[in-house]
Amino acid sequence: MLRYAAQADRAGLPLFTLADHFYAGDRLGPARAVRTFPHLWAYARDLYRLPAFRETTDFDAHCMSLPAERADGVRHRRRPGGPRLEVSNDGCSHCHERCTFEVHDVASVEAKEAGPMTRIAVIVGSTRPTRRTAVAAQWVIEAAGRHPAVKSGEVAVELVDLADFDLPHLDEPAPAAFGVYTHEHTKTWAGTIAGFDGFVFVTPEYNASAPGPLKNAIDYLHAEWAHKAAGFVGHGVHGATRAVEHLRGVLAELKVATVSSQVALNVFTDFAVVDPTQPGEITPGEHQEPTLHELLDDLVLWSESFKGVRETLARQAAATEA
Ligand SMILES: Cc1cc2nc3c(=O)[nH]c(=O)nc-3n(C[C@H](O)[C@H](O)[C@H](O)COP(=O)(O)O)c2cc1C
Repeated sequence: MLRYAAQADRAGLPLFTLADHFYAGDRLGPARAVRTFPHLWAYARDLYRLPAFRETTDFDAHCMSLPAERADGVRHRRRPGGPRLEVSNDGCSHCHERCTFEVHDVASVEAKEAGPMTRIAVIVGSTRPTRRTAVAAQWVIEAAGRHPAVKSGEVAVELVDLADFDLPHLDEPAPAAFGVYTHEHTKTWAGTIAGFDGFVFVTPEYNASAPGPLKNAIDYLHAEWAHKAAGFVGHGVHGATRAVEHLRGVLAELKVATVSSQVALNVFTDFAVVDPTQPGEITPGEHQEPTLHELLDDLVLWSESFKGVRETLARQAAATEA
């Protein structure tokens, strides 16, 4: 804000400061600000999209920095969209001609705005060549696509297949809690997990626990899991309930909050398996998709809420460093 203000004219400075307060909802709260003064609020919001502003301000982080209120009264950390102001082709109408910056990439800004704000990874927890877990995970992706938050584009649900990462048995010299990764495979895995807000672990049960490769992949990282949420889709003779219980304990150690709703697919009733060495087809019982959606209801809510927790921690860490 101050760096931007240094480039603004004298009349602009108090206006930008006022806009910042207004956008943050200091007086009214953002939801009420949108309802009460929609154009002033939208003006403040659009200031944050100017290229010079975006160089110094993390717009998305700012959007999430204060709780807003949804129409249903549930408090969450998503800034209301507010009205859309027109952008003229021959200049910047965002700032009513006050700024000296051109809006070069309105399209990409708008695409970003339209894009999903919460990313959920569906993690394929088995790496065997003929794994049934891949079939179960594909069903999760399809059934999740029918969840309202995913359908509306607010939430993205993406497949993360452990087999694609080819992680060896943990081979980093330092424990992941130190955050010092030396191998490319660790950095790739860390980069992938860091980008998600929540996880659905799709896991089989191996000898009354989770598969070794999944535990290994979890052990590889630390901060990338922390202060996020997770849910489970298990499959096995008893729906992999024992594997999931073990995973809950492991993830608690990594500060991952696990939702209680859980999908337990039974290999005899939720799959059609002719050859037990092959994955077969998934034939989920009618109750399974509603159960998955219940899981997602909590997972999405918690994943969004934890964004605020991570921001608070980041601010505290920055303040300690300063
Ligand atoms: C090493 C091993 C141990 C297993 N142990 C159990 C078990 O304890 N409980 C269970 O319900 N199923 C058990 N199963 C059956 C698996 O859950 C089932 O084969 C599942 O489809 C394996 O998932 P995948 O095909 O994705 O690897 C075991 C399978 C393997 C390969």
